[in-house]
Amino acid sequence: MDQGLHTLPGIKLFDLSGKTAIVTGGSKGLGLAMAAALASAGANIMLVNRKEEEGLQAAAELAQAFPVQVIAFAADVTNQAHTEAMAQKAIDTFGRIDILINSAGINIRGAIDELSLEDFDQVMNVNVTGTWLCCKAVIPHMKKEGKGSIINLASTLGLVGLANRTPYTSSKGAVVQMTRALGLEMAPFNINVNAICPGPFLTEMNLPIADTEEGKKFVVGATALGRWAELKEIQGAAIFLASEAASYMVGSMVTVDGGWTAR
Ligand SMILES: NC(=O)c1ccc[n+]([C@@H]2O[C@H](COP(=O)([O-])OP(=O)(O)OC[C@H]3O[C@@H](n4cnc5c(N)ncnc54)[C@H](OP(=O)(O)O)[C@@H]3O)[C@@H](O)[C@H]2O)c1
Repeated sequence: MDQGLHTLPGIKLFDLSGKTAIVTGGSKGLGLAMAAALASAGANIMLVNRKEEEGLQAAAELAQAFPVQVIAFAADVTNQAHTEAMAQKAIDTFGRIDILINSAGINIRGAIDELSLEDFDQVMNVNVTGTWLCCKAVIPHMKKEGKGSIINLASTLGLVGLANRTPYTSSKGAVVQMTRALGLEMAPFNINVNAICPGPFLTEMNLPIADTEEGKKFVVGATALGRWAELKEIQGAAIFLASEAASYMVGSMVTVDGGWTAR
């Protein structure tokens, strides 16, 4: 029976040096914070989003802050030609893809009788189809490497319900189940697929509710910590799931939600 200490001098459990990470939704918010976390652990980064200028600006900021290679790639994750070009660009630039973080996401709020079919489809397309297409694009390259890490951004709202959020909760519930199914499917290939379920972080996505009574009530009321999360509070989970430290994690939901789902 192997009962060693397993911490050899010089081996860093969370080291990502020389690895390549694609971070969709990487131009801002949680995506950019997680990209910075991975860069701080040594990974080269490809940021992916639609607005080219914002991606380039974020990439320049990251490259200035960390001694790693950073590129931006403009793509819409709902478009398969774009997601395939994204994976090819990463291979052409870095020669490999080790990590994919699917952080591109949108939210359209409202009661069901106020929302249109287009609203529902749009949220499902970006959050579910976009996540699936990005996984599909990188997996052949990870299989060639014989390993990989995929981190999907689900949400507390993939685990519990909230009124006036039917498109978003439906999409995040689907991301939870996609993560479990793909985790099982990819385990034989040494590709770890897991998800982070964040609670409320004050990003652009949440600006519309930040100062409303509803926003205050559900953040303070729903979380045990009674406050919004700070962006840096997502970073440890991202480094962990991207690293060797998470090698036995398959289809897991890592909640970073201030206690929302502990109740
Ligand atoms: N903030 C929270 O409290 C919270 C909580 C739970 C889960 N999450 C999840 O965490 C992820 C990140 O959220 P966030 O708060 O960081 O959002 P955010 O600040 O609004 O950023 C969203 C990012 O996604 C990109 N994006 C949107 N649609 C895209 C598309 N079709 N193709 C490519 N990129 C696209 C945006 O760039 P462009 O507009 O330039 O494309 C941007 O980079 C999302 O999946 C969200 O659902 C967030």
